[in-house]
Amino acid sequence: MIVLKLGGSVITDKDRAETLDGEALERAADAVADARRTGETESLVLVHGGGSFGHVNASEHGVSTTEGTHDPGAVAAIHGAMKTLNGFVLQRLLDRNVPAVPVHPFSAAHRDERGTLHLPTGQLETLCSEGFVPVLHGDLVAHTGAGATVVSGDELVVEVARGLEADRIGLCSTVPGVLDADDEVVERIGSYEEVAAVLGESESTDVTGGMAAKVRALLALESRASIFGLDELAAFLAGEAVGTTLE
Ligand code: IPE
Repeated sequence: MIVLKLGGSVITDKDRAETLDGEALERAADAVADARRTGETESLVLVHGGGSFGHVNASEHGVSTTEGTHDPGAVAAIHGAMKTLNGFVLQRLLDRNVPAVPVHPFSAAHRDERGTLHLPTGQLETLCSEGFVPVLHGDLVAHTGAGATVVSGDELVVEVARGLEADRIGLCSTVPGVLDADDEVVERIGSYEEVAAVLGESESTDVTGGMAAKVRALLALESRASIFGLDELAAFLAGEAVGTTLE
């Protein structure tokens, strides 16, 4: 089982509200379709971020992973923008005969009063074993005491990988991996200490962005994880070590 996240800024145009990067999305969809055609039928769960869809709407309404909203109009706008993007992603995959189906975290997950995310995975497991490719997305989720807050694609990747005991995790990003002080890709990270100097030691609570938070969360998992750019997506899906490997 592979859990793959397509970063929001990979598949959208960051600088224009609710605008796709159509070419990048097509390349990503091609890589997924080719891997399923040529490879063994390894299960795949996809997650995508928000890029210029979710983030613009969320900041307009002052909503983040910790600041929530009780306004149903804000929920409709933010969740709606993410569903629109999800529809575009699904369509590109379906056009290439990938059996992609939507899974909306707003309808399935929640945070408790401590902000901890709870996401059931039985539906994902069953969809995969029935041959589907579930496609989740950064979204809003019900949050005890806060209304609805943002859940990032990275958080979803971690929960899905944990729940389904994924063999491999891929984060397809706008950078080719974790970069060292000379902007060279660090090939392998075994512990956070190895990269603390370049990523910063801060006990940051930043869960949606930030390479430091990604690295910490991925190292805490059993699964092997890779962070790489779009050029390496096909190689990642073929099982090659690309970008930065965390294990
Ligand atoms: C953001 O998802 C979703 C919303 C703001 C509603 P992500 O945080 O995973 O998006 P990217 O990948 O950073 O764009």
